[in-house]
Amino acid sequence: MPYTLAPLPYDFSALEPFISGDIMHVHYEKHHQAYCDNTNKALAGTAFEGKPVEEVLKNLSQLPEDKRTVVRNQAGGYLNHTFFWTFMKPKSGGKPAGDLLKEMEGAFGTFESFQEKFTAAAVTLFGSGWAWLVAKDGKLQIVQTANQDSPLSQGMTPLFAIDVWEHAYYLQYKNFRADYVKAFWNVANWEEVERRWMEARN
Ligand SMILES: [Fe+2]
Repeated sequence: MPYTLAPLPYDFSALEPFISGDIMHVHYEKHHQAYCDNTNKALAGTAFEGKPVEEVLKNLSQLPEDKRTVVRNQAGGYLNHTFFWTFMKPKSGGKPAGDLLKEMEGAFGTFESFQEKFTAAAVTLFGSGWAWLVAKDGKLQIVQTANQDSPLSQGMTPLFAIDVWEHAYYLQYKNFRADYVKAFWNVANWEEVERRWMEARN
């Protein structure tokens, strides 16, 4: 079965005014669709064709050498964006609750301090890539990945992320990435991050 895009879990304009409907249309219908189509092309005829994309990204070294880079980029872009839509939700933001909040306080001091560190990771990332909250060996960590690299390829479990490729914000925020990152907190879907954290620690 070829990979397909999961439906966007809300309307294109539902994240406004923080993320414009124009961005969501281009980002989902053009960029994400292209990563999906190119993943199908790249994996056709390999032993990984039709396998869960998570499994592909965890085992990049097992791919034929001439496919490794294209799959790393395209399958990474396909899965990163699949996650990204679920990390956002209309009328959300605020703080996480329960176990995740406690864990964040243990790892970063306070939620606000987590926000500062994550914001710094997102704003300072050079070029195109992502800032992530991941679970590694049962602990929370903030990491950056370049281009469309997936934390899964580095033994980490993705919990939350912001896409800081220019295509994610330029139409609305121009070159002001910091303004985009600031606005992004208003659409953070902590319920999904909590769900992922509970799954990762079990
Ligand atoms: Fe993107």
